[in-house]
Amino acid sequence: MKQKIVAAGMLVAGLLLMAASIDPGLPKGYWHKPAATAGSPPARWSELEANLHPEACGQCHEAQFDAWKDSLHAHAYSPGMIGQFPAMGYQKANGCLACHALLAEQAYPDDKSMRHSLKLRLKHDSGFDREADIDKATLPLRHAGVTCAACHVRGWQRFGPPPKGGSATGHLDAAAHGGFVATSAFERSGFCASCHQFPQSKAINGKPLENTLTEWKNSSFGEKGITCQQCHMPDRRHEFRGIHDPEMVRKGLDITLLRQADGVRLRMTSKWIGHAFPTYVTPEIIVRAEALNAAGKVLQNWQWKVGREVAYDRGWKELRDTRLMPGEKRDFTASPLPAATTRVHYRITVVPDKFYQGVYRRLLSADMTSQAQAHIKRAARRAAKGDYLLFDGFITI
Ligand code: HEC
Ligand code: HEC
Ligand code: HEC
Ligand code: HEC
Ligand code: HEC
Repeated sequence: MKQKIVAAGMLVAGLLLMAASIDPGLPKGYWHKPAATAGSPPARWSELEANLHPEACGQCHEAQFDAWKDSLHAHAYSPGMIGQFPAMGYQKANGCLACHALLAEQAYPDDKSMRHSLKLRLKHDSGFDREADIDKATLPLRHAGVTCAACHVRGWQRFGPPPKGGSATGHLDAAAHGGFVATSAFERSGFCASCHQFPQSKAINGKPLENTLTEWKNSSFGEKGITCQQCHMPDRRHEFRGIHDPEMVRKGLDITLLRQADGVRLRMTSKWIGHAFPTYVTPEIIVRAEALNAAGKVLQNWQWKVGREVAYDRGWKELRDTRLMPGEKRDFTASPLPAATTRVHYRITVVPDKFYQGVYRRLLSADMTSQAQAHIKRAARRAAKGDYLLFDGFITI
């Protein structure tokens, strides 16, 4: 009899061991918005472990903090968004925070707290304080936008990928915050979907405004399993670089100038972009060509645009979609060339916030509270500074 009990005990232990190696995945409701971290922290935790501010995580996870703080995720509680809030009221504003600052702790409880937060945000231009004394309450957590805990913490439990170089999944022990749950869900593209893929029910001309996961699934990158993380978090670095980063965009494209019988062309190939270039409706890429004579005088010019343009007029409408799909080659041909042409000058300009530049201009021309105006002005200045020259080259005839 005694032996049987021991055997049963061994069986249970065996099952537990097996459970630790079965990938639990993300718990159901992980991406419920707003995502909850439940009540007060476990009693024996230190103040540091119980602090959800990114600066606190950064005390032990320095590399992730240093990369993340310069990413747009850290700045998602942005002036261009919150400047629109006074006209919306806190409840609608919380609908925006559902992606830009999704934790329950980050939502506004009422209009007063929203106004207070907007005032604080004017004083502290960045969403978090690098020099913060983490023992004192710093800025409200919502100012940290898409913060560490938004992706990694639910109900005080930390979740993360299997430790580097291994494949262990399930609950793993660690020297802090009661260990963590490891799941390969962190390594899959679907992890980014809840904020970067809008539902098909909101499609315009068959495509949601942000359709990144679907574009990826239909690409050779999706087929080969080259994930969002492999490109946007190389070696697990929390960089999240995108269209606002010239080096990232250059890495994604191949650009060559070619001579043809009847003119010249610039050939743009999307070689390392796992979705449409660009994936969102807000950036615009402008390709310009100028035919010059020997004295450098412009004889003729050409202009093309790459992007998906939408407009809102009692519902969204798509005006055009000239984006490059993954792997696509596109020629921008300057032809016919005037007889005296000796060189053609090609330039590519990226306007990452083209759509928002228009939104801010329209908002500033209408009535708004002075607080809202201060934020939108700041957003407009920032959006204008984001434009950059991606390519500048000549081809001689
Ligand atoms: C007191 C130090 C400390 C603090 C503070 C801390 N962590 Fe950790 N964390 C650790 C240690 C130690 C481990 C286990 C070893 C490792 O992966 O570094 C760990 C593991 C993790 C993992 C799992 C890593 C993997 O391999 O999957 C994640 C995710 C994580 N922490 C997130 C956070 C977040 C988010 C915060 C802030 C809300 C935080 N941690 C605060 C010490 C800390
Ligand atoms: C909780 C919601 C959320 C999740 C999850 C999320 N993102 Fe984001 N992401 C955002 C928001 C909001 C922005 C815009 C920030 C801003 O500029 O205000 C953004 C911005 C970005 C940008 C910068 C875009 C640009 O314009 O240059 C990249 C790249 C990016 N995310 C990649 C990812 C990847 C890869 C994942 C998955 C590993 C991911 N994101 C998961 C909400 C999220
Ligand atoms: C489903 C998730 C989601 C929701 C909800 C959402 N956004 Fe965003 N928003 C994003 C993502 C993702 C980006 C970055 C897109 C990119 O660069 O590809 C973004 C970018 C922005 C930007 C430009 C970058 C910046 O922060 O200045 C503004 C402004 C903005 N959103 C405002 C809003 C407002 C206002 C609302 C509510 C009416 C809202 N968003 C709701 C996901 C969301
Ligand atoms: C937008 C979601 C997102 C945000 C925000 C985010 N992470 Fe991560 N983190 C991930 C993903 C996804 C991975 C796994 C990447 C992979 O496997 O390629 C990861 C991996 C990690 C790991 C394991 C690293 C390793 O080398 O094994 C740690 C630790 C971690 N994150 C901590 C943090 C901390 C601390 C912050 C804030 C400073 C943070 N994360 C912000 C999504 C995020
Ligand atoms: C093969 C590499 C690669 C993969 C895979 C990839 N991206 Fe990108 N991504 C890029 C490059 C390069 C850029 C810069 C060019 C651009 O904006 O399209 C970019 C830009 C972005 C941007 C900036 C906004 C915009 O309008 O372009 C977001 C957001 C983004 N990626 C999210 C994702 C998400 C989410 C996934 C997974 C579903 C993903 N990316 C998969 C390489 C990749």
